[in-house]
Amino acid sequence: MRRPLIKDLLSLKAGNDAVTVEGWIRTKRDSKGVTFLELNDGSSIKNLQVVIEDTLPGFDSLSKSLTTGTSIVAAGVLIESPGQGQAVELKAASITVLGGAPPEEYALQKKRHSFEFLREIAHLRPRTNSFGAVARVRSAMSFAIHRFFQENGFVYVHTPIITGSDCEGAGQMFQVTTLPLESIPKNDSSIDYAQDFFGKKAALTVSGQLEGEAYACALKNIYTFGPTFRAENSNTTRHLAEFWMIEPEMAFCDINGNMDVAEAFLKYIFQYVLDTCPDDMDFFDSRISKGIIDNLRHIIASRFMRISYTEAVERLIESGEKFEFPVKWGIDLQSEHEKFLTEKIYNQPVILTDYPKEIKAFYMKLNDDGKTVRAMDILVPRLGEIVGGSEREADLAKLTARISECGLNPDDYWWYLDLRRFGSVPHAGFGLGFERVIQFVTGMQNIRDVIPFPRAVKTLEF
Ligand code: 4AD
Ligand code: MG
Repeated sequence: MRRPLIKDLLSLKAGNDAVTVEGWIRTKRDSKGVTFLELNDGSSIKNLQVVIEDTLPGFDSLSKSLTTGTSIVAAGVLIESPGQGQAVELKAASITVLGGAPPEEYALQKKRHSFEFLREIAHLRPRTNSFGAVARVRSAMSFAIHRFFQENGFVYVHTPIITGSDCEGAGQMFQVTTLPLESIPKNDSSIDYAQDFFGKKAALTVSGQLEGEAYACALKNIYTFGPTFRAENSNTTRHLAEFWMIEPEMAFCDINGNMDVAEAFLKYIFQYVLDTCPDDMDFFDSRISKGIIDNLRHIIASRFMRISYTEAVERLIESGEKFEFPVKWGIDLQSEHEKFLTEKIYNQPVILTDYPKEIKAFYMKLNDDGKTVRAMDILVPRLGEIVGGSEREADLAKLTARISECGLNPDDYWWYLDLRRFGSVPHAGFGLGFERVIQFVTGMQNIRDVIPFPRAVKTLEF
């Protein structure tokens, strides 16, 4: 029989039935004639209190071996707990030690360790309250994402991880090659990619969007959810070299439909986490970011602000605030500007639309003014951008011209242009950075603490 999870035991009433439970010891406390263990099995942020009386055979030597981090199987009965904080506790009839954790060597001894320290032991940090809670919330959010799209008629598409195209046209790609780096084959002075594994230059994808568009232009509504890679040399609390992205793409949809879906989608996952992870969210609220639950509730209940880039720039200038990067029309907004808009001016999530074409990717639909494109970014307090999206350029001639204007070669995008040659439709989509939205929901400050094993500049220990 499968042994019960601590999460389930904690909701039971006291009784005489024998139960067996397994887990890792978080703390041990000795009192007169009894030892109390706080046992955790990762199913909940809550521990099960295990009470061991000194009448248990072999108590003295057993009690010594029950150190923090030790794994045990405990059998006994659930009794009403006289102590604070839990309804029931386990009165032990037997304890089996599976694996010890010598205190002088095991790193997790203190109640609280700094996140910096825990990053150095990413293999052990899931055993702490914060990282257990992040892992459970991350899992629940993944499920909510699939559920939202599946319930709304979207088809899940697996776009490739190795790709021959640069979606964002920004050249921040990790190359994939089997060419020997010590003696790269050359053709005159340039690298002879014909000899490489794929017979051409290949890289890890920065986005599944282009391939997603091919499927949306056949299946109408699709989404992707997978890892993406960016060789951005940005050592910030919001950037990873490997992160997960959710990218829906909708045919017969314009920028307004796109914003509606993005807003409904975010609210759905916030609500799902509040409903299904109450204990973990209470923990984040009390220990990581005070008021985060009310904040999420408020966001779910209100409509996101929708304004144009041009208006946002005017508001920032009007504010008279001294920014490190001065504001004028045409600049790429920095995180200080995004935060100012969401925290000081509007005090809520903001969807910014119609950015200057020069600072956005080639595939975005050109507005009639010839200067701006139908981009839409969602900015939130504390983090800035969490969603980047747009209506796509559906006109073959305009798209071809934009590709060239951006210094890219239209021949490389022949198949993408085909989507505009045959049965072209207005279509739109967006990308949500999964780790950024987890940061937003949990209040965790550093993006490296919401993914199990972070990859960032000069960071690849595990
Ligand atoms: O704004 P981005 O670059 O948009 C795209 O990739 C589009 N192809 C999406 C689409 O329209 N289908 O990235 C989308 C989101 C950002 O808003 C941000 O949340 C996240 O991905 N993101 C990162 N997250 C962590 N680390 C990084 N280095 C990130 N770069 C982008
Ligand atoms: Mg973006």
